[in-house]
Formats: sequence, C-alpha cells, structure tokens
Amino acid sequence: MGSQGRIIALAVLLVVLPLLQVGNGEHEIDDKGGRNERRKRCDVYDGRWIYDDSYPLYSLTHCSFILNQFACQRNGRPDRLYLLVFNGVTFLCRYRNNRILFVGDSLSLNQWQSLTCMIHSATPHSEYKLEKMGSLRTFTFTEYNVSVMHLWNAFLVDIIPKRYGRVLMLNKLDTKTWEGIDVLIFDTWHHWLYTGRKQPWDFIDDGKHKYKDMNRLAAYEIGLKTWARWVDKSVDPRKTKVFFQGISPDHFKASYWGLHNGKNCNGETKPALVDLHPRRQHPAELVLERVLRSMSKPVHLLNVTRLSEQRKDGHPSVYGVGGHRGMDCTNWCLAGVPDTWNQLLYTELIGK
Ligand SMILES: *[C@@H]1O[C@H](CO)[C@@H](O)[C@H](O)[C@H]1NC(C)=O
Ligand SMILES: *[C@@H]1O[C@H](CO)[C@@H](O)[C@H](O)[C@H]1NC(C)=O
Repeated sequence: MGSQGRIIALAVLLVVLPLLQVGNGEHEIDDKGGRNERRKRCDVYDGRWIYDDSYPLYSLTHCSFILNQFACQRNGRPDRLYLLVFNGVTFLCRYRNNRILFVGDSLSLNQWQSLTCMIHSATPHSEYKLEKMGSLRTFTFTEYNVSVMHLWNAFLVDIIPKRYGRVLMLNKLDTKTWEGIDVLIFDTWHHWLYTGRKQPWDFIDDGKHKYKDMNRLAAYEIGLKTWARWVDKSVDPRKTKVFFQGISPDHFKASYWGLHNGKNCNGETKPALVDLHPRRQHPAELVLERVLRSMSKPVHLLNVTRLSEQRKDGHPSVYGVGGHRGMDCTNWCLAGVPDTWNQLLYTELIGK
C-alpha cells in the first residue's frame, strides 16, 4: 500500500470508529435478545420532520397520471416547503412477479398513487400499464411483472342495496379481490363519520339487528372485527403480508395547532414542528389498535397518525379537486406526506 493509500485508509477508519462505538453500545444492551431485538428497538415511526433538499422523490411532470385532487403543484400551489418528508430512508425495491393491493378509501388511493409514482420515477423508461376496471385500479410495471393495485372500498365491510334502502352490513365482506395477493394494505375510517348526503347507507346491520343509526365508533369496531376474523381465518402469513394504514389525521381545526378556531389547513406552509405532547390518541386509533392486538395473525400497523398530525401544511386545501370551492384538509398533496408512509412501508417490507 502506498502512503497515499494509507492516508485514505486511516481517514476511513477514523470515520468508521465512532460509528462502531455507537453500534457496539447498542449491541451490549441487547445482547440477550440478539440481532432482531436490536432492530426492533429502532422505532421508525418515532422521529421529527427535517428539511432535506433531496426531496421530493418525484416531479408531477413524470407522472401525468396523478389525479387532479392530489396534484397541488399542477393546480398552482405556489409554496414548496411542505414537500419535505420524514427522515431520508432512500431505497427503492422491486417486487418482481408480485402483486400489491391497497384496499380502502381516498387515503388509500393517495398512498397507492404515491407508491406507483415513487417506483415509476426510479425506472422512468420502463413500460407501465394503468387500467381501471370498476373499483379496481391496476398499475403494472410490465418489465418486472409487478402490479400495484387499488381497490376502492371505503368501509371494508359491504353495503348491500335492499328494497327498503342501502344497508351497511357490519358482518359481511367481499374478499374476492383480496385473495392470493402478496402484500395487502388496508385502510378505513373517515367514511364512518359521514352523515346526510355523503352517507352512502340508510341502515346499519350488525348481523343481529338492523338500526337506523348507531354510535359510529362502535360500528367501526364491529366492522373492523369482521375484517380481522377474515385475516385470522384466511391469510397465510408465509405468502401474504398484511398492513393497516393508521388513522390519517385531518386538519380542519386550527385550534389544535394553536390558532383561533374556524381556521383550517388553508394557507399553511410549514409543519407544526413543536411536539404535541402530551398527545391524546385519536379515538379511532385506539379502536384500531385494540382490534389489531386481538388478532392471531400478524398485521403490521403503519403507525402514521402522529407523524402526519404535524403536517398541517401537507393537504391540498384549495389546490385539490374543486379548487377554491373545495377545501380538502383530509387528503394529502402528492408529492408529499404519503411518500413518507411508503418509505415506512418499504422499511417493513425489506427489513424483515
Ligand atoms: C407475473 O406474476 C404473476 C403473479 O403476480 C404470475 O402468476 C405470473 O406467472 C407472472 N408472469 C410471468 C410472465 O412471470
Ligand atoms: C403508534 O404511535 C403512537 C405515538 O407514537 C404510540 O402512542 C402508539 O403506541 C403506537 N401504536 C403502536 C401499535 O405501536
């Protein structure tokens, strides 16, 4: 080795040494639990929002298929700082010959669009096919035979039209499309609160009785338990990984981040970087966690609630569908917050 080589080697060693010390320290603490324990100790959902110039992961000019309701920059949103994401986990994975299915409402659609664009941006010249059949959207990366799909299903349980009206059947599921999929990512919550014109059912049936209405959180829990029973009975964890997208917070009440009430997410350009501690968990979050805990098959919660709570700046507001007549503080701009959810999803898929 020449003297120049030695200097470089020494420099590398000096950089590596402090890292090794940190690594060893952790190893000692967790020696009994072994390597897996050490990985578990790192809670990827616990962190802070930081500014990172390497984002966004994609520009909308590459993904003309992003729907108008999420395409804030295309709709003229002038500020850009909200494009920051939660820590930089930078990798891209390809699931050759696999099918990934998102099942849920517009927040699930949001995450599905983000994922397809993240993958597409990494291989922009690779051929893709985007199809829509009824409530199923399929994005296929033909060269790799990877399908990333979204099935619209806002409640997971069925709504069945009867002579006397539409019935939300808390104990019935249509699982045809869910069978044999490699990765399933479910989500449901926001539609359970709808009343009036937006409520797509006239009665609720819990399998025993029919109701005109009932406590929505209670109905949510019964519906989730029906879904959980299907997973416990029908999913083979060696073939299928199951995820649940945590409750995605909306930002219609600015009192939550310290402004006068009556204001919403409109005009917000920065995240709430203050810690929202002590933090009260969302009631739906508690129900979801309780149901997941009661299950026998492994379902991974994408625990995005807290990290998304800080992103009052990440919603389309007037830059979504309906423009200034709409006020969307529920869905998220793309590029944006769901990209982070997908980075966390990838961490789970690859880290295991
Ligand atoms: C593509 O993947 C599907 C499973 O998702 C598999 O059934 C099919 O055989 C694959 N096609 C090719 C050409 O490998
Ligand atoms: C999800 O994150 C919140 C806040 O960080 C935490 O209180 C909760 O226990 C987490 N849930 C699970 C199931 O890990």
